[in-house]
Amino acid sequence: MSAFVSQLESLVVPGTAESYASRISQVKARIGNTPMAHLDTVNGNRIHAKLEHLNPFSGSVKDRAAAYMLTGPLERGEIDPLEEKVWIEASSGNLGIAYGRIGAYLGIETYIMVPSVTDEETLEILKESVSHYMVTPGGYCPRGERDGAIKMVADLWMDDPKKYEFRDQYRSRDNIRAHVETTGPEFWNQTGGKITHLVLAPGTGGTIIGSARYLKSRNPDVKIIAVQPQKDHQIQGVRNFEESMKSIIFKDNEEIIDGWARVSDKEAFQAMERLWREGYHVGSSSGLNYAAALKVAKDEEDAVIATLFPAQSRGKANATA
Ligand SMILES: Cc1ncc(COP(=O)(O)O)c(C=O)c1O
Repeated sequence: MSAFVSQLESLVVPGTAESYASRISQVKARIGNTPMAHLDTVNGNRIHAKLEHLNPFSGSVKDRAAAYMLTGPLERGEIDPLEEKVWIEASSGNLGIAYGRIGAYLGIETYIMVPSVTDEETLEILKESVSHYMVTPGGYCPRGERDGAIKMVADLWMDDPKKYEFRDQYRSRDNIRAHVETTGPEFWNQTGGKITHLVLAPGTGGTIIGSARYLKSRNPDVKIIAVQPQKDHQIQGVRNFEESMKSIIFKDNEEIIDGWARVSDKEAFQAMERLWREGYHVGSSSGLNYAAALKVAKDEEDAVIATLFPAQSRGKANATA
């Protein structure tokens, strides 16, 4: 395990009440509204993907959750930004990078714990993006809530709750709200209200649950399909629920899921390589979502299937099955 590393405090510029309000609206204006691409038509079923790797802070969908988790408590007045707490989170990479970069812009110091399986390129970017980081033992699918990076963050917070702010992406309502207010409406509007299936792999579950809530509010017949990677998978950001616990936000809202699609690492990496050949520079979880969307399309008629490409291609892990 590496030692506590601290390097970027100088980038974190404390603000005034006015500058916080304007920086919050700037952050929200910059994230989301990503394009939606038409990928294939299979048996008359159209498959579309939102290009979340084009988000500006982390090159991933996690810009949305990070922005809402950081700005929500400030907007609601739950926290005085001038208190200068250190905001801590556990992340497999992207949420940490987004948290660090958005936090720095808002004048917030961040401390991110990542699992030891994190690829070198992601770690290099993380080091440049956060105030402090630590590499902790463990993989992408911690067995329980008290495992690896998540346990270490929770312990740190319990030791000194006055010093640390811990919003916890696995419990945060702001994580879900980000997708109820942004991703869900974008799926709806960009398909002209014609979406019939949303196909997505959960990590925390914020993206699928939040988007699903909005979509079902517009049309209760939209089918929500959660994607499951294989056990002991090599795909950053997603979870297999046979070997890893469901997050609180997923468990509390699970009844919104209509079905499941299973995808092996081999299928996910092959689908990712197909996307690369089409000019989408996306990671293995995009291959996972795309492979699942293709499976769903085989059994449907006249469907409009939407998924998303969660993150940029990064690191050696993305190029090996
Ligand atoms: C890289 C990455 N991050 C995160 C997620 C999942 O997001 P959430 O934590 O909102 O479920 C995915 C899902 O495919 C992903 O691929």
